[in-house]
Amino acid sequence: MFVVVGVSGGIAAYKTVHLVRLLVKEGHEVHVVPTADAVRFVGLPTWEAISRHPVTTSVHDDVARVRHVALGQSADLVIVAPATANTLAKMATGLADDLLGTTLLATTAPVVVAPAMHTEMWRHPATVANIATLRGRGVVMVGPADGELTGGDSGPGRMSEPEAILEAALTAAARPAADLDGLRAVVTAGGTREPIDPVRFIGNRSSGKQGVAVALAAADRGADVLLIAAHVDEGVLAEASAHPRVRVQRAGTAIELADAVGEAAGDADVIVMAAAVADYRVAEVSDAKLSKDAAAGPGITLHLVENDDILAGLVQARRDGQTIVGFAAETPGEGETLLDRGRRKAARKGADLLAVNQVGWSRGFESDDNEVTLLDAAGEVAAVAGGSKRKVADALWNAVRETRGKTK
Ligand code: CTP
Repeated sequence: MFVVVGVSGGIAAYKTVHLVRLLVKEGHEVHVVPTADAVRFVGLPTWEAISRHPVTTSVHDDVARVRHVALGQSADLVIVAPATANTLAKMATGLADDLLGTTLLATTAPVVVAPAMHTEMWRHPATVANIATLRGRGVVMVGPADGELTGGDSGPGRMSEPEAILEAALTAAARPAADLDGLRAVVTAGGTREPIDPVRFIGNRSSGKQGVAVALAAADRGADVLLIAAHVDEGVLAEASAHPRVRVQRAGTAIELADAVGEAAGDADVIVMAAAVADYRVAEVSDAKLSKDAAAGPGITLHLVENDDILAGLVQARRDGQTIVGFAAETPGEGETLLDRGRRKAARKGADLLAVNQVGWSRGFESDDNEVTLLDAAGEVAAVAGGSKRKVADALWNAVRETRGKTK
């Protein structure tokens, strides 16, 4: 592939040297386009040596080959890493006052951007609006990650690691742009919380990261997404909230989630139930905080009643052309495999696809990676996917497309 790597002026530019090296090692032809500020962090000789091509920041060099548009026209993929707040603003406005700007305007290739800046700049309404504009044009965002920043402070703003940028970039390049254009998707994410009294609840360890990744992947590929979020941290939701094709709706309990999904289901082409829904709720929620004084003995008993199975209900009410996807987090016991359990659940639920993954005390939850096997309605393996939750999400949508192609 012909890959253009734009580099703007941030300290994270040193990590981009490794990204370029990874791309070259994979056999890609890499052309680096730094901004004038970027070369104050990493100089031209480094970029030239590592990419094995001449590097310039100016539209006035190599004019005979019309370099200011040639790079963009030739590119199969454009990566901007790091993308500073300034570069994002220029991209959103379409400014072309340097070689990176002209290259970005001249390209029709997928553009993948890895923002890097301080948390305050990332959260500024101007940056938030610029990100939304770029996403609306199909630009794929990688990160920023949450962690230590240069000034000793920490928070979201750290450029994603080169390996993560590479993975997102290769996925974007392999994907036909907007292949889910016009699709109406409902995705649930996170864990429900079932109240016991005004201060306590029964919850679960779902972070919502996989569901949010499913929503973002669909939206980046052109779908209009309603993301129904049970308990999900604001930080995990931030990217989705800013996406122009994602609408976020909150639902706290299993009953609230069932109501929200039920209302949205009529218009949906695809429903993905990634939320961890509590199977039981407390029969009688106390209006007053339960107190030990009022307890009759050394323990208390909570009476739980079963919640409706939302997924099974959706499958029963499924209309023609609607695709329903479930998730199954399993802890297989002795003498049975993950797939045995998955197949039993697939048969019981009747969804078009069931994404089965193994969980445990230290597996599956809160992490940024996942490993799933997608089973079809007959319990056959439709796909196996592993890696980042975004990668798993893209594999899920590929399988959804395939399933819908078969039934159309
Ligand atoms: N689910 C649902 N409504 C419920 C419980 C689960 O819609 N009341 C959905 C989940 O969103 C998920 C799928 O069903 O997509 C499987 O959830 P899981 O908790 O693994 O299945 P259960 O039916 O609860 O089976 P069990 O807990 O017995 O393994």
